Amino acid sequence: MLSKRVEEVLNSQVQIEANSSQFYLAMASWAENNGYEGTSEFLYSHSDEERSHMLKLVGFINERGGHAIIPALPKPEETYGSIKDVFKNLLEHEINVTNKINNVVHICLEEKDYTTHNFMQWFVSEQIEEEALARTVMDRLNLVAEDASGMYMFDRDIMGMRNTASNKV
Ligand code: FEO
Repeated sequence: MLSKRVEEVLNSQVQIEANSSQFYLAMASWAENNGYEGTSEFLYSHSDEERSHMLKLVGFINERGGHAIIPALPKPEETYGSIKDVFKNLLEHEINVTNKINNVVHICLEEKDYTTHNFMQWFVSEQIEEEALARTVMDRLNLVAEDASGMYMFDRDIMGMRNTASNKV
């Protein structure tokens, strides 16, 4: 059985993951509209992953006797200045998510809820991968020229970066 405090912080995390999914979906749509096919594929798939994180939390909360609350979501930005702008936002967002996950883990320990603490370890590892991936993408963006041919190459190679980053950790 979950304590009220753990249930509440897990429900906040449901909202954060749902928000991430919505946020990346808006980025994907912008990228698709601006001719960045590879980037949009990357972001659509990242959005799906965030939804699966949300569902994992929803399942766990309900299984442990709590009530998973499905939240309303704020509307994300419609447009972005550049691809670099998109990924700068993405990296900052993931760093923030890592802090939130760490806070959930901290509350589990304070509440002596070792079951939820154990469940959350998957998210701790996932955040290491997500941050590594976002940093790999930013490193690549810092190497390519911000002109049409640089962006064309970046957009062509982005799905490959996904695999490289996940092999690194
Ligand atoms: Fe589910 Fe990207 O954090």
